[in-house]
Amino acid sequence: MLGNVLHLPLTFTEKKFHEWGKTFGDIVYIEIFRTPAIVLNSFEAARDLLDKRSAIYSDRPRLVLLMEMLRARTLVGLPYGDEFRKRRKWMFDAAGNKPTLRGYHDIQYREVRKLLHNLSQRPDQFSEHLHLYLAGMMLEITFGHPVKTLDDQLVRLAERAIYGINTAGRAGAVIVDFIPILRHIPCWLPGSFTRNAKVVRRHVEEYRDISYNAITSAMAAGVGEPCIYRSVLEQYGGGPTPAEADDIKGLAVDVYGAGVETSRATLSTFMLAMTRNREVQKKAQEELDRVVGRERLPNFSDRDSLPYVNALLEEVYRWNPTAPLLVPHRVTMDDRYREYDIPAGCMVIPNVWAMSRDAKYYPEPEEFRPERYLGVDTEAGDYLLPNNFAFGFGRRACPGQALADASVWLAIASTMALFDILKPLDESGKEYMPPAKFISAFASEPAPFGCRVVPRSNSAVAILDHLDVGFNNAA
Ligand code: HEM
Repeated sequence: MLGNVLHLPLTFTEKKFHEWGKTFGDIVYIEIFRTPAIVLNSFEAARDLLDKRSAIYSDRPRLVLLMEMLRARTLVGLPYGDEFRKRRKWMFDAAGNKPTLRGYHDIQYREVRKLLHNLSQRPDQFSEHLHLYLAGMMLEITFGHPVKTLDDQLVRLAERAIYGINTAGRAGAVIVDFIPILRHIPCWLPGSFTRNAKVVRRHVEEYRDISYNAITSAMAAGVGEPCIYRSVLEQYGGGPTPAEADDIKGLAVDVYGAGVETSRATLSTFMLAMTRNREVQKKAQEELDRVVGRERLPNFSDRDSLPYVNALLEEVYRWNPTAPLLVPHRVTMDDRYREYDIPAGCMVIPNVWAMSRDAKYYPEPEEFRPERYLGVDTEAGDYLLPNNFAFGFGRRACPGQALADASVWLAIASTMALFDILKPLDESGKEYMPPAKFISAFASEPAPFGCRVVPRSNSAVAILDHLDVGFNNAA
């Protein structure tokens, strides 16, 4: 009845799966309650099944909590089918093609200037500034809604809904996903999770409805900026039916929910990695000085000339993969791989954590070492680059990857161009090393830590003094 559940820890499950992989091989069969599941602990197995056989490995298991109880209606949880294809196309049009991505550059440059300004004003609040950078960018891109502070009404609605979703339980890993009847546990029972689910569902609905109504009213009044929502709505000339409107509202969760927490966790990992690895930071800064100079900020056209900065970002993706177990896939037909029979309906759990620790590709995997990717022949073995697994696989791979990667890259290149990120000081004024400690969650990020963010030079101060942040009162 319970299958392997009693052997699974509630946190850092990916590490237990990795351990099992060392004993039993890179494909481990388990049963969660009565659901058969395979854990893929190697990049090769994940690529062979999820990429090369993506026609049958792109379904999701039934995500009862996320999709039915919380009614998030997000692409992440949709079964493979027509509705999924329509929503993937919206996401591709919104974030997956080059001309659209270029159209976001001005927003990204303005938001990064705000980030730099905020870092210079209140460096100890770096975590909030990173959050505002991403929340502002994603909300503007989705709704055409410029954001000045985290106190913005739409940000608060989005945050409340997404926080509720993330803390209610990890999709595909909560008991009700395996025993759906538990959704009927009465709300009045003490400690009942259905009570919390009801509250979160209301918050999700409020966020979806209020954002949708704001856009449709603006469109009716002929005002507002171009944005993802607007371009999808325009496809429904006479206005969408209520069912179509319900799908469109899912976009609010697709972009903000899937994009902000993950990108923020990645930037937070970058800050911790830099705090702990001053020599790496210095090498990146030398490269930035040589290629970009000290008189201006880096921009996207510099990217190809900055191999060390690019390698540093790859190492961020690997050192603490943001989604260590991705979101489970589901196979729709009986299949055979190597000597294993994989039954239709089997859950497939890609263990990106194990891939990121594969000593065959990454000797001393706990070390933060961008040099691993320099001089590597990517044509011959592109599996070495962690962006090949950190964003998932096959037809379910992250549709926001290019947008996320560009936004994160711009933030890290610009921050290192102007600031030194230094170890924090203890009470006696001595530097100390913050531990490499992470939180176990869908979007894994460092446990709270301190660092000092200090302008690097007089020319950095001069740039900061003249930044055009677009608003008079950046946060
Ligand atoms: C560093 C930031 C990000 C990381 C690490 C990340 C990672 C992921 C991963 C691992 C998946 C699951 C892939 C799979 O099941 O194989 C995913 C799915 C998804 N991501 Fe991202 N993501 C990031 C940013 C974004 C952004 C900015 C957006 C939106 C613009 C976005 C939208 C989505 C959506 C809608 C899905 C669901 C796709 C589906 O199920 O078909 N993500 N992401």
